Amino acid sequence: MNGIEVERGAHAFAGVPLERALAALRRLEPGARACWAYDLDLIEARARRFVRAFTGLEPRVAYALKANALPAILERLRAAGVDAECGSLGELELAEAAGFPAARRNLNGNGRTPEEAEWAARHGLHSVNADSPAELELLERAAAGASARLRVALRVNPGIMTPGHAYVATGHVEAKFGMSPDEALAAWAGRARWPHLLVDGLHVHIGSQLLDLAPLEAALDAALALAAEAARRGAPLGLLNLGGGFGIDYEGRGAEFPLERWGARLAERARATRLEWVLEPGRWIVAPAGVLLAEVLWVKERAVRADPGAGARFVVLAAGMNDLLRPALYRARHRIVPLEPRAGERWRATVVGPVCESADVFAAELELSPLQPGDVVAILDVGAYGAAMSSNYNGRGRLAELIASGGTLTRARAGETAADLTARRRADRLEV
Ligand code: LLP
Repeated sequence: MNGIEVERGAHAFAGVPLERALAALRRLEPGARACWAYDLDLIEARARRFVRAFTGLEPRVAYALKANALPAILERLRAAGVDAECGSLGELELAEAAGFPAARRNLNGNGRTPEEAEWAARHGLHSVNADSPAELELLERAAAGASARLRVALRVNPGIMTPGHAYVATGHVEAKFGMSPDEALAAWAGRARWPHLLVDGLHVHIGSQLLDLAPLEAALDAALALAAEAARRGAPLGLLNLGGGFGIDYEGRGAEFPLERWGARLAERARATRLEWVLEPGRWIVAPAGVLLAEVLWVKERAVRADPGAGARFVVLAAGMNDLLRPALYRARHRIVPLEPRAGERWRATVVGPVCESADVFAAELELSPLQPGDVVAILDVGAYGAAMSSNYNGRGRLAELIASGGTLTRARAGETAADLTARRRADRLEV
């Protein structure tokens, strides 16, 4: 399953000719030279496939909003029966606005604020994942204040290192996330201290972009052993949240996460337990369904002074690291495809953005068909952690976001303009 398909020599995306999308946007935003586009039908199909893969476990599948919280995507996922995993007050509000009812939202994060706790107590949630035992006091106060009861899972750091970039590993002992297994056991055993909390859950999320089952299997072993130990100490658990982390095939070489195999494996391991299960996929559902379309601004050929034969060629795109941060932050590699490939010998080029940083490089020495200014390329698999991580760095407005579905293209979020960049200016004198 991939977002872009080549149909009759053209790139089709949910039935929409992708090479015409940027020009179509220009009728609404004349200055647009780059934008995001998502295949909403593919997002729904992937969500349904994810749920199907775990038949037998029947977990709550809570989509991680941090991957991409575009309202149109949230609404489609809600209608497809997926729940919402939120990590901040803003994501709670986005989930509520998209129609997720209280029982279909959960809350994560290691920086719990009184405002989040109060929101949770007032509006209701399926569960809160607490990052430290001290947080339980805050949650208890908020729940008591609202005469509510909050269900809590304790985030445990199981001390498991995952492969891939260190910045997306979260379950090893140096990572900031979670409490120790002993702290969690003590909190479960002493849970009568928090009468407004139902502290019967365990949460483990060890990292992201996992393709291999071994670390997930290790996390599962640790979680089940901990649940058994809690029961032995008189505090049986009712909820096991295994987090997200399911990787996708960025290289396009068939290295897919073995989703159905993992589903069967979990169902088999769950048979001996009586737990309610939660999974929190983000990337797997949305990443392959998003592209970043960008116009080529310049093709720069630079001779190297000492060796005229060894030149360098740069393709400068209208999108940069402020739009798609993943290559600069994690050295992530995304495929880059010219939408209307030109005939002629393929050449090598370093594909860069226009931001004043040497890290603003999408691909070094890439081999691709020749490009000229005005051509449009698609950067693939950016549906997760693309627009969600974009910024206004270098005074650049965040890009418009388009939705393709059933042959129709819709602008789902406008691009920011210079007026948006100046709109937050204030001169409010503060009493200190
Ligand atoms: N649950 C929790 C508690 C999480 O922290 C995350 C992601 C997820 C679920 C969803 O993980 P996923 O299924 O998407 O791997 N910006 C990075 C990824 C950071 C992931 C943060 N936490 C990237 O672009 O690769």
